[in-house]
Amino acid sequence: MDYFNYKKNKLFAEDVDINILAEKYGTPLYVYSKRTFLEHFHKVKNAFSDMETLICYSVKANSNLAVLNEMKKAGAGFDIVSGGELYRSLKTGVDPKKIVYAGVGKTAEEIRYALKSGILMFNIESTEELKAINNIAKAMKTRADVAFRINPDVDALTHAYVNTGKKESKFGIDIMMALNIYKSAKKLKHINIKGVDMHIGSQITSPIPYINAVSKIARFVSELRRENINIEYLNLGGGLGVIYDEEKPSTADVFARAIKPHIAGFDLKIILEPGRFIIGNAGVLIGRVTYVKKGRTKNFLITDTGMNDLIRPSLYGSYHKVIPVNVKKSADLDYYDVVGPICESGDFLAKDRHLPQMEAGDLICVRTAGAYGMSMASNYNTRPRAAEVMVDGAKHTLVRERETLEELTAKERMIK
Ligand code: LLP
Repeated sequence: MDYFNYKKNKLFAEDVDINILAEKYGTPLYVYSKRTFLEHFHKVKNAFSDMETLICYSVKANSNLAVLNEMKKAGAGFDIVSGGELYRSLKTGVDPKKIVYAGVGKTAEEIRYALKSGILMFNIESTEELKAINNIAKAMKTRADVAFRINPDVDALTHAYVNTGKKESKFGIDIMMALNIYKSAKKLKHINIKGVDMHIGSQITSPIPYINAVSKIARFVSELRRENINIEYLNLGGGLGVIYDEEKPSTADVFARAIKPHIAGFDLKIILEPGRFIIGNAGVLIGRVTYVKKGRTKNFLITDTGMNDLIRPSLYGSYHKVIPVNVKKSADLDYYDVVGPICESGDFLAKDRHLPQMEAGDLICVRTAGAYGMSMASNYNTRPRAAEVMVDGAKHTLVRERETLEELTAKERMIK
């Protein structure tokens, strides 16, 4: 579900003609539909409305302040993974007691910052991190609220790079070793045990991996309680998939219905950390064709956007739909590789796509680019990162200016 539709052969974001946005703000341009991401947020919220649930939007998916601020206004908390994401989250004025902090490599400085900010809890990923947090909390004469991220050894049936719940992955604490770490944490003076956490991966389309993981985690919570270890929160992580191509991901309702029987009767507060599900289909990347290059075996649409703006196709071989912003009714179709101007063969957005014949100057739209698009963008080839615009009905607002070349070089120094 999204609000990017053709009206009279022009692509609109909600009520705004994308041609107008490209003209006004230039390309490459990320365009977000507020109505789309808020609807997705409410879908998750409603699916769990019968339980005490905190939805912590996963900041890494798209960390633009305007997006975070709309999430906060809708009642979301935040799932963060760095001091930088904490800083962004706090800028929205969110209640810090709605922030949860994951990640395998939290530094002492980041831990201090999070303790000072009064976040809801850390999701601890190792014994070493537990010791570090306890020591830092002691030095700060405070106690740290924590959960432990459990690695349930479950295959999330997704791309290897985002499959995080198998025992060989760097994430979480092996479920076989977890009871001992809870027992030792219970003895620590500067640690308050609050919950159990899991996050098994991303772009998960079937409820089955969740069922497998949650049923293991639920058994583990019973074990903890038998040891008189109090567990108030269960964090189920993120990972709900979206449609890029022909996937049929579970809806929020199906996901909720599949999970609830396994945690019924546990009297737990639920935390969810969706990122992609909320913002994925709510963003598109708009580029302009610079040249149409016809080769002997391939046609290339060389555009002004590429792997530095959206690295997912190059990094994971991900599929993103590419569509023309303006439909040409009579044009014949042709096969194209949609590529960027960057000096790498891996710089492509789409391969062998059947598109209407295109010309230099035409606008293209890369769909489902709202999650892990701009947040993974880089300045490779000294390319300023794209501008970002948020559309709300007929209103459009520039929520991040395009970078300038002066800004790109401002921190560098030549040695005399
Ligand atoms: N919670 C934790 C602890 C996470 O590590 C992640 C994502 C999420 C929640 C949110 O997951 P989501 O609901 O968005 O699936 N760059 C990759 C995705 C990396 C996901 C990293 N962790 C991509 O472009 O597909």
